Amino acid sequence: MGLFSASADSAKRAVAEAALAYVPRGGVIGVGTGSTANFFIDMLGDLRHQVVGAVASSEATAQRLRKVGIEVLDLNSVNELPVYIDGADEISPDLHLIKGGGGALTREKIVAAVARQFVCIADESKCVDLLGRYPLPVEVIPMARAHVARELVRLGGAPDLRIGFTTDNGNCILDVHGLEILNPIGMESDINQIAGVVAVGLFARRSADIALIGGPGGVRRVEPRP
Ligand code: A5P
Repeated sequence: MGLFSASADSAKRAVAEAALAYVPRGGVIGVGTGSTANFFIDMLGDLRHQVVGAVASSEATAQRLRKVGIEVLDLNSVNELPVYIDGADEISPDLHLIKGGGGALTREKIVAAVARQFVCIADESKCVDLLGRYPLPVEVIPMARAHVARELVRLGGAPDLRIGFTTDNGNCILDVHGLEILNPIGMESDINQIAGVVAVGLFARRSADIALIGGPGGVRRVEPRP
């Protein structure tokens, strides 16, 4: 376990470093949430004079960005977001993603929607052929929790309330187990249709444009298969 974590961490550090090549000059950068994004933020501190500022996908990321001297901007005040850098919980060969393990999926989705280019950074343990082994996070308005859970069961999943967790938006998260996501775009739309769902952690309609994947052989750049 110790060894595995150490090598995962060095892969995360390597992809974070590779992502520095995508930092815009004189522009605003979108920054995601999680342990891989944290490595990136810490390195971005050295390039703080290269960017005008950053848009953060969570309060935790905003705090960390400020700590390394980067101004955090309100997304509403930003006209152009050339690049968004963020991690993922699962990555398919089409660069469809499951995200939200850290609970920041809604803001991540908003920032990804605005960004021209979404660069996903991850260690290779995140790469899968079929999405769904990682429980799919769904952010839900608290009063709709039971209704949304019933609808998710109808879609074939087994939702579990993330206990003791409230999102930055004041909502709860249902983690949906047991899904084999054969049609990620269709499932993303189906879950989005359920009344009370704020966002689902499937990033298929807006997938990543590039993934930087770290492993023992170094960092490889992956683009969606044609
Ligand atoms: C945060 O809500 C998530 O979407 C993260 O991007 C995802 O969980 C990856 O996190 P790690 O980089 O910590 O694995």
